[in-house]
Amino acid sequence: MTSTFKTQSIGVVLHISRYMNAKTMRIAAFVLCFIWLVNGELLEADQDASVPEDWVLVERAAPLEEVELTFALKQQNINQMKELLKLVSDPESHQYGKYLSLEEVADLVQPSQLTEKVVQSWLQGHGVKNCHTVLTRDFLQCAMTVQVAEALLPGAKFHRYIRDSHTLLRSTSLYSVHEDVHQHLDFVGGVHRFPPKGKDISKGWEGARPSRSCHLGVTPSVIRSRYNLTAKDVGTASNNSQAVAQFLEQYYHPADLAEFMTLFAGAFTHMSAVERVVGTQGGGKAGIEASLDVEYIMSSGANISTWVFTNPGRHESQEPFLQWMLLLSNMSAVPWVHTISYGDDEDSLSDAYMNRINIEFMKAGLRGISMLFASGDSGAGCRHLTKERNTFRPSFPASSPYVTTVGGTSFKNPFKVTYEVTDYISGGGFSNVFAMPDYQVGAVQAYLKNVQPLPPQTYFSITGRAYPDLAALSDNYWVVTNRIPVPWVSGTSASTPVVGGILSLINDQRFLKGLPSLGFINPRLYKLQGKGLFDVTEGCHLSCLDDKVEGKGFCASPSWDPVTGWGTPNYPVFLKALMD
Ligand SMILES: *[C@@H]1O[C@H](CO)[C@@H](O)[C@H](O)[C@H]1NC(C)=O
Ligand SMILES: *[C@@H]1O[C@H](CO)[C@@H](O)[C@H](O)[C@H]1NC(C)=O
Ligand SMILES: *[C@@H]1O[C@H](CO)[C@@H](O)[C@H](O)[C@H]1NC(C)=O
Ligand SMILES: *[C@@H]1O[C@H](CO)[C@@H](O)[C@H](O)[C@H]1NC(C)=O
Repeated sequence: MTSTFKTQSIGVVLHISRYMNAKTMRIAAFVLCFIWLVNGELLEADQDASVPEDWVLVERAAPLEEVELTFALKQQNINQMKELLKLVSDPESHQYGKYLSLEEVADLVQPSQLTEKVVQSWLQGHGVKNCHTVLTRDFLQCAMTVQVAEALLPGAKFHRYIRDSHTLLRSTSLYSVHEDVHQHLDFVGGVHRFPPKGKDISKGWEGARPSRSCHLGVTPSVIRSRYNLTAKDVGTASNNSQAVAQFLEQYYHPADLAEFMTLFAGAFTHMSAVERVVGTQGGGKAGIEASLDVEYIMSSGANISTWVFTNPGRHESQEPFLQWMLLLSNMSAVPWVHTISYGDDEDSLSDAYMNRINIEFMKAGLRGISMLFASGDSGAGCRHLTKERNTFRPSFPASSPYVTTVGGTSFKNPFKVTYEVTDYISGGGFSNVFAMPDYQVGAVQAYLKNVQPLPPQTYFSITGRAYPDLAALSDNYWVVTNRIPVPWVSGTSASTPVVGGILSLINDQRFLKGLPSLGFINPRLYKLQGKGLFDVTEGCHLSCLDDKVEGKGFCASPSWDPVTGWGTPNYPVFLKALMD
């Protein structure tokens, strides 16, 4: 699989009381710590601060080494923002498409003067001076020594960890902040979260699907023919743009992209080079995942100017995904569509962090930007709570109600461009953190009512945000990487850029007619009731290998389902349904 999703840590044995899960254990451990931290308070009591198994401890960080921490300052007018986003994304509202500029978003959400003052004087009191803010003033990024960081954040102890040749600084003990600043901060970035690992191999090589290894493979022409894109369906609007964001230690290579287009993109007008790279393209080897995203968004979203956001952040303490969110809040002009193949288990992240990232997605929606996330490659996922008890394992940001989540399909007949069935790896399910948003209640209730049997209700939160929202092919792609064409590349990191490119084509037609971008598309997508999408009704995705569910998660069904959403794009019909 080629996604950046963390593998389920199958076989992790939790030596704890059967009445406690890992999260309550962490909170309990915290409350104990707390007794020693007299005037400190915890911001992320439920954050998993343990070291993922692929990272190895090198040493304790030296006191004078530098870290760069990201302070997420409490914002204002969140409820107002939520209401406004509803209006600008609802095609029946007269405010539909009346998006805000980043400057206007800043006026709405920027922290109060009190918040800024309290946080700044706290930092200055510790001698922290080297700080940078963003245009919306709600993040502050500050460089300081390890010694100062540990004084600022009692409880934190920075160590150096290594994976392959990548090192970073993290603390595996939880941090607190002074009680005076506690209410002014959402969280501090650069202390705990490790970047998830990319799995740079394809399913074909793992031999997971011997029956499909004879498939001729998905290429741009297969994608364009299946989704009814003609040679004329390419971008022409001068101000259109799309982007992929990548957070792996791997790079797309311009020569790979050029060769891919030469080999596979004969019949339609396209671009063969990326317009802009934001961040640092390292000198290392090109990776399959990085090549895949760029090659396929530029094949469905053909002739549309494409940006790549890659590995932002230079310090060992930074979180690349968070850095990217900061960048978006600091750049007035960014592309209209972003596709991202990145995710982590919901249960490994603090609620404070996820809620704040969710607000960042709302900010993007208010600006008319579409955020597309891969739904993940582990089906419903599986989390082992106790020896006998498992639940499904939702992935974030796929589970955010403010992003559009893309699942995966494969061809029913591997030799023909015919109809699609569920790709069993397609991530999907119900969030344990976010409530079901209004826009999807009807669709999800219908599924829950009509599709029987459902998995046992101890496995998922029936009232949570359900995903994915739609899907595309995710199986057996051809990619060029390190100048070599590679077959059998699979995962929802393939389907997501394909859908991204198609939304960009629709934006293009809208721009030519003087209409605004599609922006946060979910409220409108669910109102379409599947119009313009090929319904995927066959197959189930995978989940826990236990007696109760026997490896089966949810199953596809007519209309919306938590495996393939509303289905896959039929471009001309989808376009028509979205052209006003
Ligand atoms: C945001 O952009 C401004 C202006 O380019 C820059 O000075 C500042 O350092 C940036 N902030 C961050 C956190 O990078
Ligand atoms: C689109 O593709 C489908 C299936 O390949 C086909 O049946 C249909 O006629 C095509 N055109 C439109 C406008 O739907
Ligand atoms: C490709 O896009 C450019 C604008 O970026 C436009 O001028 C040109 O006409 C487009 N090509 C085709 C074949 O539509
Ligand atoms: C394209 O962008 C430029 C600069 O941002 C702007 O001045 C111009 O009006 C835009 N054109 C269209 C057609 O939106």
